[in-house]
This record gives sequence, C-alpha cells and structure tokens, in this order.
Amino acid sequence: MMYYPQELIEEIRMQNDIVDVVSQYVKLMPKGSSHFGLCPFHHEKTPSFSVDRDKQMYYCFGCGAAGNVYSFLMQMENCDFPEAVKRLADRAHITLPEKELSAQAKEEARQKQRLYQLHSSAGRFYYEMLQSPRGEAAREYLKNRQMLPQIQKKFGIGYAPSGRTLLMEHLQAEGYSLREMLDSGLVMPNKDGSGYHDRFYDRLMFPIIDVQGRVIAFGGRVLSKGEPKYLNSPETKIFSKRRQLFGLNFAKNAKRKELILVEGYMDMISIYQAGFHHVAASLGTAFHADHAKLMKKYVQDVILLYDSDEAGTNAALRAIPVLVKNGLRVKVTQVPDGKDPDEFLRHNGAQAFAKLLVDAVHYVSFQISCIQKKYDLNDAEHRVRFTVEAAQALAQIENEIERNVFVGEVARLSGVDTAAISREIEKLRQKEDTDSRPLLHEGRAFAKKEIPYSEKGLLEAQKDILLYCADHKEGYLKMREILTAEDFTDETCRQAFYVLEGLWEKAGVIYPAELTGFFEEIEQQQMIAAIFASAVPKESRADQEKALNEEIKLLKRHRLDKQISKCTSAEELQNLLAQKRRVEQLYITILYG
Ligand code: UTP
Ligand code: MN
Repeated sequence: MMYYPQELIEEIRMQNDIVDVVSQYVKLMPKGSSHFGLCPFHHEKTPSFSVDRDKQMYYCFGCGAAGNVYSFLMQMENCDFPEAVKRLADRAHITLPEKELSAQAKEEARQKQRLYQLHSSAGRFYYEMLQSPRGEAAREYLKNRQMLPQIQKKFGIGYAPSGRTLLMEHLQAEGYSLREMLDSGLVMPNKDGSGYHDRFYDRLMFPIIDVQGRVIAFGGRVLSKGEPKYLNSPETKIFSKRRQLFGLNFAKNAKRKELILVEGYMDMISIYQAGFHHVAASLGTAFHADHAKLMKKYVQDVILLYDSDEAGTNAALRAIPVLVKNGLRVKVTQVPDGKDPDEFLRHNGAQAFAKLLVDAVHYVSFQISCIQKKYDLNDAEHRVRFTVEAAQALAQIENEIERNVFVGEVARLSGVDTAAISREIEKLRQKEDTDSRPLLHEGRAFAKKEIPYSEKGLLEAQKDILLYCADHKEGYLKMREILTAEDFTDETCRQAFYVLEGLWEKAGVIYPAELTGFFEEIEQQQMIAAIFASAVPKESRADQEKALNEEIKLLKRHRLDKQISKCTSAEELQNLLAQKRRVEQLYITILYG
C-alpha cells in the first residue's frame, strides 16, 4: 500500500539524482548524453548499462533492466517500494510523515520487528550451542556429512540442545514476552496444558533466511534416527512456507539468470559448498505459484533437480506446470541410482555434478520419459497408450513450434507417424477449448476457435499507445475518448493510461521517471521504464499515425472478438458485429501538442 502522498514521492525522487545514486554502486563514465557502466544486474565485460540524467532513468541494453531511481534501489537492495522511499528520503534529508500508518498497521509492524529480532537472537543461541560442549555430537554429525566450518558459519548452522526449555529461558532473559515466544512458534504449550516448552530440542538447526537477510524460521534435523526427520517452524506472521525458498538469500547474489532447484536443506548446502552458488531448496512442501513468482524476480531459467525416487519424480512433475505457467523456462535433471544430490556430490564430486547440470533436458522430454517408463514399447497396445498419454502432455504446450519438436520425439519412440500424433493433439486442444468454456443457458457460444491474437502483439500495441500518450497531451485526450479500460489487456498499461490524466492536468510535460513512480512493484516499474527507454523514433508523422491507428484497431478488435466468443444472444451478437464494423472504419488523425 502507498503510505505517502504522490507529491512527496515525486519530491524525493527529484531530490535524488539518479546518476549520483547509481554511482554509489556502479562506476559510471559519461558518454554522449548518458552515463555508462557495467550492469549490476547481470554479468558483463563491456558496459551496456546506461543512466540518463535528463530522463532520470536507467536502462540496460544487455538484460533489459530499467527504471527510475526507486526501481534501481529496489533491485539493488532487494527492498520494497516503501523501503526505497525511506532510504532516498533519508539521503535527501527529507522527513517522512509518521502518521500515514494507521495505529493498527504500526502495531503490526512493531510485532513483526520483534519477531525478526527474536529469531535472530534464537539463531545466535543455537549457533553458540553448537560451538559449546553440548554441541559435540552435532559437530561430529556435521563433520561426518562433510560440511565445512566456513559453510556452517555462512549458513548459521546451530544446535538446539536437549533440555526442553533452554531457548525459552534464553529468550526470557533477553526480554521477550511469552506472547512473543508463542507467536514465533519456537515455544509451545505443553500437551497437558501446564507450562511451555521449546519446539526444537536435540536437533541440528538450519536458519531459514528471507531474501532481505532476516532469519524468519528454522528447520531442525534429528541427529540419528527419529521422526520427523526434519521439523520446521510453523507458519507465523513472518514465515509463510509457500513464499520462501531455502538459500535464495545467497543464491540471488550469484546474479545468474538460472537457478538450480532442489528438495532438501542438505542438498542446497552441499551444492553451494561445491561452488554452485545459484541453488535454492523448496523444503519438501508442495511447490506453490508463490514460489515461482519469487524465483521469477531473480531468474528466468530453472533446473529442477529433485530426488530421483518416486516421490521426488512426482514432485518434479507437479512443480513443472507451476513453473511454466509463471513464465520460467524449465529443464530437469536427476541424480542416477536413486541417490539425492547431496550424496551424489559426496561420492562423485563437483565435476560429475556439473555434467549433471549440462545434461538437464527440456521439461517436456522429462515428461515424455516419465510416461515412457510406464509402458513397454515393444508391445503394440502399450505403444498406443503411450502415444495417447504423451499427446495429452504435448497438448498443454502453447507454442506450436515447441510442440512440433516433441511430436517428433514421441513419433520416434512410438513408431506412430507425426501427422497422426499432431491430429490427436489438435483434437485434444480443441476439446480443452470447449471444455474450459463456461456452460451457457442459451446454447453454445457463437465462435468456437481460439482468438488468433498474439499476447506480444497486443502488449506492444498498448506500450506504443502509452508512449505516444505520454508525449502528446492533445493526442492523449483524443485517445481517452476512443479507448476504454476494457480495451487494455495489460493491467499495468491500463493503470498507466489513467494515471496520465492527472499528470497532464498538472504539467505541460510528463517525465517517464514520474510516471514510473506511480507503481510500487518492480515488475511494473521495469515495464513502464522499458517503454520509454527502448522507444524507437517513428520515421514520420504519417508512419506514426498509421501505426497508432492499427494498434487501436487491434485492441478494439481483440476486445470485441472476445465478447463475441462469449456472447449467447443473437441481439447482442448483432450489436457487437456492428461495433466491429465501426472499428474497421475508424481512423484518427493525430495532433501534435
Ligand atoms: P528428504 O527426506 O529427502 O531429506 O527430505 P534429505 O534432504 O535427503 O535430508 P538428509 O540428507 O537425510 O539430511 C527433503 C526435504 O523435505 C523436508 C526437508 O526440507 C528436507 O530437506 N522434510 C523432510 C521435512 O520438512 N520433514 C521431514 O520429516 C522430512
Ligand atoms: Mn539427503
């Protein structure tokens, strides 16, 4: 939520020159009207990161990172928007109003702050216990598992001793209330209702650290046999399993566009110790869309490396669609002979492990080979069943070229010819199409086929229109008469389109950096900033006019076709078709302000 008035956000932004702020992190050299340096967001040897003092924006020609001074800080420091505002206000000696937070929100924030402190204190306690005489067996255990001392230190590995109230006493001495201890989940009531005890005792302790470097929970492993093998903190005000990946706080510093995803604490740590720093673990929980969204902030590619037993394979198969849906490119690799990655590394070493990564296959190949394992392809009937099941998997792939690649693979395995497999997939896709349509009272919808619009084309059109509207006030006002909220398919573009109104009312010129400042999510800021950073000037006014008209029509056509495909009454259909004809005749002459 936005705590501060927009004018203040803008004031703070203007008081923090982007070249000065970026220079605190990146060595910049003036070149033309810009400054250039090595991009802090991806690895590079020649500078493609540009910072423009006039525009107060940055843009990387290598990785596409873009934004204003807020976006920069958010990306650089991994902080959220309010935090970036705070830091830049400090830097400019601007005092932020306190009262903007409600009393309740303040109390929430205070409680969370206390919980963070409590966890950090507990982490230190466990860490010291591991070094103490009580920690002897745990130290021995770590030695047997070959975890190096510097890695133990880096991950803050600790030991919860076997007394049942030692942590509780420690926290009490540090001034934490019983309420706070219970809220942390590290202390819990006795079963018989008398008194309280520590959640963890006689366990090796793994602090779970968020991307901002705060300890927010723990996982504890038994030293020998015992159930459960790993005990974890419960969900708390500061810990949500499905929003957390173990080790991502370290992995993000690897600044790679790829992440190895494993199942276990020890797998993650062993891989890190072997020198592969781009690794995180999903901690045995079902992989959730929130996990994928979190990863997407840092990487584009994922190498899934789950255990190769049945449970691990099934977990990988379930994680794949979640990752793919959230825009990550997925490859899969497995450790041979049912070992887990940690054991594999111990037995086979880092080089063999590197080979495992290179051998990762496209997730569809992995799916196909999992299906294949269920059938005996020497048997004709099995070949048929294999092909049908594989076709079902392939029907999920949106991209046709990608689909065809794997049709070839299935054809090779089954001996069924590619055309037949393609037809089967086509059938499945059409069926899916109709199945996912809502049931209608008045019979079936009129249009049957998927609407042939490309997401990318639609998005580009909206971006281009925004760019124009932020440059030409008269043109914008005209667009406001023509375009409606429903014509936009992208939420950020839609919002920006309406934000422009206030900006134009206020001033005769719009600064992209100010428009960017209206958005709090880094993804949104990036997108707005990139529109302005990568704009290619149109050849002539006539060209621009033509392009804009096409873009308006594209958006309107798309909107109407979508409505038509859902429409069930003849009357409504008439109306929509009439609107569509009008759109085709639409032509606007654009003005220059
Ligand atoms: P595994 O059972 O594969 O354990 O669980 P592991 O990682 O190989 O552990 P080591 O090598 O024996 O120490 C994978 C992950 O599932 C979660 C943990 O996060 C574990 O790392 N898990 C497992 C639990 O949360 N609780 C359990 O009882 C078991
Ligand atoms: Mn293991």
